[in-house]
Amino acid sequence: MNILERIPELACTICKKPLDANADGSLHCSGCNKTYQTQNGFINMLTDGMQRFAEEIAVQDSVAVEYEQKRYQKPYARRYHNWWTEQMAKRVKSEGRFLDNGCGTGLLFENLHNSKIVGLDISSEMLKYARQHCNELVLGNSQQLPFVNDCFDVVFCRSLIHHLPKPQLAIDEISRVLKVGGEAVFVDTNCSLLSALPRMIANKGEHFSEDHKNLTRKEMTKLLEPNFKIDEIMYFGYIAYPLLGFPDIVNIFEHIPFKSAIEPTLMFIDNVISRIPLLRTQSWAILVKATNRG
Ligand SMILES: C[S@@+](CC[C@H](N)C(=O)[O-])C[C@H]1O[C@@H](n2cnc3c(N)ncnc32)[C@H](O)[C@@H]1O
Ligand SMILES: [Zn+2]
Repeated sequence: MNILERIPELACTICKKPLDANADGSLHCSGCNKTYQTQNGFINMLTDGMQRFAEEIAVQDSVAVEYEQKRYQKPYARRYHNWWTEQMAKRVKSEGRFLDNGCGTGLLFENLHNSKIVGLDISSEMLKYARQHCNELVLGNSQQLPFVNDCFDVVFCRSLIHHLPKPQLAIDEISRVLKVGGEAVFVDTNCSLLSALPRMIANKGEHFSEDHKNLTRKEMTKLLEPNFKIDEIMYFGYIAYPLLGFPDIVNIFEHIPFKSAIEPTLMFIDNVISRIPLLRTQSWAILVKATNRG
């Protein structure tokens, strides 16, 4: 089965025209005469002039192994992220064609067994791990999606938008590839009292690049409002988020005794805070569910 049979939504990154498959697995655009080659078994839909993204790709290629072997391996971290991905999955329809935009190592695929999902990421090291869970993977740039218009029913962006130099381009692209009435769920780092100082410190470390930023609710809604109807905003992540969710960055919980009793207590405290007006807005994360108006 060639790549266009598996991912019929693929289009030229530049002119968005449909592509022809060559016998060697590469794809050709007759509109702009560009050929897209395979790289490590993935179709490489990145265009020339990716210098702007070189630092991001280097950072993500180097942290992919940390995600795979630490962040999503520790059982308590895994349970935290499973809870988080369930929050995303339960807010959208369960049938249709899904895009996991910035799919990383493919955690979401594991929790969406019934869906037909395509994963896109700019880091081939991330995709190498994602391949364990999904065959429909594309090396691509979220600011320039290599898909035809109106082809997906659902787009997930889990911790992607805060990485991008030009988030508005990515949101416009999501709107373009989503059908009208299609659903999008974004989760990103919220700009709050809790997250501001750690972001400043973290950006100097090797997990992050200068582009990484926290987004306020106002910034998120401003990005979305031109093309989307915002259905729901949820704040989450207070104490459990840093302690349980990121052992590759904050490894404190590993050394805490009585983990099995403390873990549900942390989840309970987070749940309570997320219901307290005003206080709840000072979270680590913000989830936005939106519907495409086109
Ligand atoms: C914080 S990670 C989240 C990965 C995954 N969604 C998860 O939840 O585990 C951000 C991901 O976005 C990807 N990314 C960053 N900039 C991108 C871009 N311009 N286009 C596509 N993916 C990008 C990174 O390679 C990385 O895998
Ligand atoms: Zn083209």
